[in-house]
Amino acid sequence: MKNRNMSTQTISPGILDHDLTKASVDSILMDFLESRGSSGDSRMTRIVKLLEDFMVGGKRIRPVLTVMGWQAAGGETVPAAVLRVAASLEMFHAFALIHDDIMDDSDTRRGRPTIHRMLAGKRGDDRDERFGLGAAVLVGDLAFTWSDQLLHTAGLTPAQSAAVLPLVTEMRTEVMLGQYLDLQATGELTDDVDATLTVNRYKTAKYTVERPLHIGAALAGADAATLTACTAFALPLGEAFQLRDDLLGVYGDVRDTGKSRLDDLRAGKNTTLVALALRTADAAQRARLHTLIGDPALDETGAEEVRALFASTGARDIVERMIDDRYRRALEALETAPFTADAVTALKHLAVTATRRNS
Ligand code: IPE
Ligand code: IPE
Ligand code: MG
Ligand code: MG
Repeated sequence: MKNRNMSTQTISPGILDHDLTKASVDSILMDFLESRGSSGDSRMTRIVKLLEDFMVGGKRIRPVLTVMGWQAAGGETVPAAVLRVAASLEMFHAFALIHDDIMDDSDTRRGRPTIHRMLAGKRGDDRDERFGLGAAVLVGDLAFTWSDQLLHTAGLTPAQSAAVLPLVTEMRTEVMLGQYLDLQATGELTDDVDATLTVNRYKTAKYTVERPLHIGAALAGADAATLTACTAFALPLGEAFQLRDDLLGVYGDVRDTGKSRLDDLRAGKNTTLVALALRTADAAQRARLHTLIGDPALDETGAEEVRALFASTGARDIVERMIDDRYRRALEALETAPFTADAVTALKHLAVTATRRNS
């Protein structure tokens, strides 16, 4: 990450410059980790280095949305405190991803080995594997703890703390529940599309879009109507974001996504795409889907067959339409939202990049 020593900077109003938000947040994160790494205990050095490397390459959508929430609710020059809260949400996201990769048995994230794979080293030795998993749980816990420290040292006013801390608690609770529901549904394939959308909302839409917007808006003193308008925009967009992730998890190019496109299929993730395919499949197609999805030894040939089934059952096209439908609903919500005009423009732009992305 570049642009160090920007962590005390503020961002001026006017054009909502995502690159500047990202650079400021990156610099806060790097300064923070550097200070933890130089805290006198050299045993911390490796963990800090792992986290520093892990942070490189994320899209930073949650910090960007935090700043947009601030501006949507009338906040002007973005203070250092708001950027620090935004950085804290990115650190929370790191925690969520590190644990997610353990739960999903994923080897690759952001184009590099996942934290548990780094810590385990080459596959083979059972003790090394167990160390990798256990140590990665702890590195994730540290990211969580440090996201909390970033939050509590942001320099919020008492009014800001009172408005924001309950939202942060809700966000944490929602994502844990979503991940729990996701695990529960893994390997138990059903055609219950609504159930998959509930998992989607809790594991992703809320902590990725809704809560960052809420938190940014609450920092600016948003009223209840503004928070409700944030939700009306954020939930459809957040669902669309995860539906795109589901498609990228099967069809994406690893050079863009930095993630394997076999993980979801091998793990037997009951995504919306899978539920739709099961719902529209004939008996023979359904039997093949059940055989292939959830097979831990599935190879590219098997994955190609699943991809062909997602196409021939129409499930892939339906997911694309669902993304489009949710994108439109998000834009409609902006028409009546009591947001600043600059924020509406920025949110419209973000709605495109969040749903039409390839990484
Ligand atoms: C990945 O999140 C996990 C989901 C909630 C879908 P992102 O797609 O925001 O991942 P990064 O931060 O850009 O790597
Ligand atoms: C995303 O889970 C939700 C969280 C990380 C909390 P996924 O398992 O669907 O995301 P990827 O595809 O691994 O990034
Ligand atoms: Mg995963
Ligand atoms: Mg997961």
